[in-house]
Amino acid sequence: MAAKETPKEPAALDSYVIAHGEAGRARLRVLAEVMTAGSEDLFRRVGISPGTECLDVGCGGGDVSVLLARHVGPSGRVVGIDLDPKTLAAARSEAKTLDLPQLSYRQGNVFDLPDEASFDVVYARFLLTHLAEPQKAIDRMRASLRPGGLVLLEDIDFSGHFAYPACPAFEDYQRLYVATVRKAGGDPNIGQRLPLLLKAAELEEVGLQVSQAVALQGAAKLISPITLEAIGERVVAAGLATPAELKETSDALFQAARDPDRVMSAPRIVQSWGRKPR
Ligand SMILES: C[S@@+](CC[C@H](N)C(=O)[O-])C[C@H]1O[C@@H](n2cnc3c(N)ncnc32)[C@H](O)[C@@H]1O
Repeated sequence: MAAKETPKEPAALDSYVIAHGEAGRARLRVLAEVMTAGSEDLFRRVGISPGTECLDVGCGGGDVSVLLARHVGPSGRVVGIDLDPKTLAAARSEAKTLDLPQLSYRQGNVFDLPDEASFDVVYARFLLTHLAEPQKAIDRMRASLRPGGLVLLEDIDFSGHFAYPACPAFEDYQRLYVATVRKAGGDPNIGQRLPLLLKAAELEEVGLQVSQAVALQGAAKLISPITLEAIGERVVAAGLATPAELKETSDALFQAARDPDRVMSAPRIVQSWGRKPR
């Protein structure tokens, strides 16, 4: 019997510092639980409606692709694209259980998006923060848009991530996350400059708003410890902490997340959009 082929990981995923594959998928589910309300609010604000054709770039496990597919309905179309074949396999298998014929996935790199000019909306959530050349990525996203279409972005501003009362484990986590993303060439605070990147791509009617989950209990507080776990290998490989130090910080962060008298936020999310001239 032929051995089952394991999908190969593309080298470009080296800049993506968060665990991918199945462990990464579990984290993306928690992220989806916390971020769905903010994304839905954005889709309502920019008017994603039945019949819209959307490209979701860096779609991961497809949580937003599914949301978009529900908004656009059977007369619309949603294509999710991701570099990671393992995460895409999970997205495809989850989609099989949903009755959404308007949704499909394909493997691809944002930097290789074709000049197809066939989508009404080209969307990316939490992708640009991991890229060394976000402007080039937005330029490629623009090329996939019809005239009059929207580039729609959601990305993080880690500088707006907070805990109150402050705690050393949260501060260690912030330092480790920022250093790890920067070391891989990304920008943990890219949210702040999204509108300027959209303007530089010659998009018009550029707008923005902020969305941020914050809680005393529940999933919003869990984002921090599970993200620390998901970047753990990279933190250690970069020499930023030893495995023992990492475990100590992670344990203390889980404890802080369970403390009902500590407020903890998810990162501040900047949502920004711009229209391709007609
Ligand atoms: C943090 S995840 C976000 C997933 C999804 N957008 C969400 O919000 O749930 C970032 C995704 O971008 C993908 N990615 C990283 N670099 C990419 C690239 N150059 N082209 C396409 N996808 C990429 C990763 O594989 C990962 O699935």
